[in-house]
Amino acid sequence: MDAREMKIKAAAAALAHVEDGMRLGIGTGSTAEEFVRLLAEKVADGLKVQGVPTSERTARLCVELGVPLKSLDELPELDLTIDGADEVDGALNLIKGAGGALLREKIVASASARMIVIADESKVVETLGAFKLPIEVNAFGLVATRIAVERTAARLGLSGDIAVRKSGADDFTTDGGHLILDASFGRIPDADALSESLNRIPGVVEHGLFINMASLAIIAGPAGARALTAKR
Ligand code: A5P
Repeated sequence: MDAREMKIKAAAAALAHVEDGMRLGIGTGSTAEEFVRLLAEKVADGLKVQGVPTSERTARLCVELGVPLKSLDELPELDLTIDGADEVDGALNLIKGAGGALLREKIVASASARMIVIADESKVVETLGAFKLPIEVNAFGLVATRIAVERTAARLGLSGDIAVRKSGADDFTTDGGHLILDASFGRIPDADALSESLNRIPGVVEHGLFINMASLAIIAGPAGARALTAKR
């Protein structure tokens, strides 16, 4: 089974949790896109859902495939969000944001009664941090914010390169018009403490640590999809 087939397996298993009439947060990334494709088939067969997309990219795909959309202001309370992740640990804490949609993803997931993560086996880790941690920052005061992030991390015993994400020759900008710092901290033993500390830096808009947000992860491997529930 190749990587795409695993993503489709995870997305298909998540679709079983979608009920008629649901208000649905729809994630961003290649795995979430497989979910959108399968969801669109169900919608074409008569399933009634209202989706709130977590990025402009997801919104475009939903429109193209006929998945009905609302804004989060129109539907501020959602039943379920289904989204991918860059890393998942045993407590279902996540790193997200490789696609740059972490702010909207976190806002939408927070507005949802439940969040289900869909991913392939390669995303499961014992301790978060092998993947770069995306930190969305305001462009104003970028250098000062980067220094503040560095010092905050150092107080927690973390260090590593902190780079402004690029898109070709330009800085990558998020749907909200912000920049991303990708922090290569390595293992993050206390993700909760780092999350809280980063949230206290004024230039940090949001970061990619999703703590205690997912209630279920559907992980697909060569043998099929398995469910992971949080060991909290
Ligand atoms: C988007 O900003 C991310 O949080 C994605 O959800 C995450 O990167 C997973 O993407 P893939 O499914 O493409 O790996």
